[in-house]
Amino acid sequence: MSYEFILVHEELAPFVAGVQLNRPKELNALNLQLMSELRSALEDLDANDAVRAIVIFGNERAFAAGADIKQMAGKGAIDMLKIDQFSTWDSIRRIKKPIIAAVSGFALGGGCELTMLCDMIVASETAQFGQPEINIGVMPGAGGTQRLTKAVGKARAMEMVLTGNFISAEEAKEAGLINKVVPVELFLDEAIKLAKRVAEKSPIAIQLAKESVLKSFDSGLQEGLFFERKNFYTLFATEDQKEGMAAFIEKRKPDFKNK
Ligand code: HXC
Repeated sequence: MSYEFILVHEELAPFVAGVQLNRPKELNALNLQLMSELRSALEDLDANDAVRAIVIFGNERAFAAGADIKQMAGKGAIDMLKIDQFSTWDSIRRIKKPIIAAVSGFALGGGCELTMLCDMIVASETAQFGQPEINIGVMPGAGGTQRLTKAVGKARAMEMVLTGNFISAEEAKEAGLINKVVPVELFLDEAIKLAKRVAEKSPIAIQLAKESVLKSFDSGLQEGLFFERKNFYTLFATEDQKEGMAAFIEKRKPDFKNK
């Protein structure tokens, strides 16, 4: 399948696929078509047995500078409601395989929210994260007020959302928003390296583990604990659990079959 605003790399490394946001002149502003292409590519990769982890990236200057302001500028509230762009975001939230964002340059507004929709974030030293919607008379709409607050706490989230100020990669790391900061020439390689580590594990265990960590975002502690427990028990019905534990005892590398 060919797309206009993204590039799909089916094998960045063994079992690791990539999706590159590709509107460089517009700093990868996320228009509706780009988001719908992204959703479709991710759903295909999710269904592809040769893929165990996915890396989303832009280019050195920008991961994404937000939703496309030019596309939104003339819209009214009812137009926005009818377009219902967030159903696309909800579908991306439901991708079962682990997704790593490799970020260099701007990750702003919807771009920052897209990184937070991913499971881990690797950033270059030049990365800047921000929710500048307040500067254009709106507010975050794709989870920024919720996921950012959970990731960095109330004080910093309020400051970012109410002032529109950006934070650097170092600040984002210190705040717990991202996993790793690396020199700019390494940001994609490091993200791929992390994806490869994840791709070595049992895919079914990774899927249930991801689902369980995400559950902590939308449930109270007790509900989350029951959910985690159910998934934990379920893994004991897999061959990968038997293989993983046997390999440990026999001091060898496990051969996971996703079964
Ligand atoms: C549309 C954008 C854009 C955006 C940049 N461009 N961001 N177009 N939507 N979000 C375009 C510019 O218009 C310009 O096009 C080109 O990309 C290069 O940008 P410049 O502004 O010339 O670059 P620079 O001076 O380096 O400034 C970079 C920047 C600035 C600081 C990132 O572009 C900026 O402030 N962008 C907007 C950031 C923002 O407010 N994001 C939140 C959007 S709302 P031309 O044609 O002039 O060369 C949002 C809501 C999310 O994300 C909720 C729903 C999903």
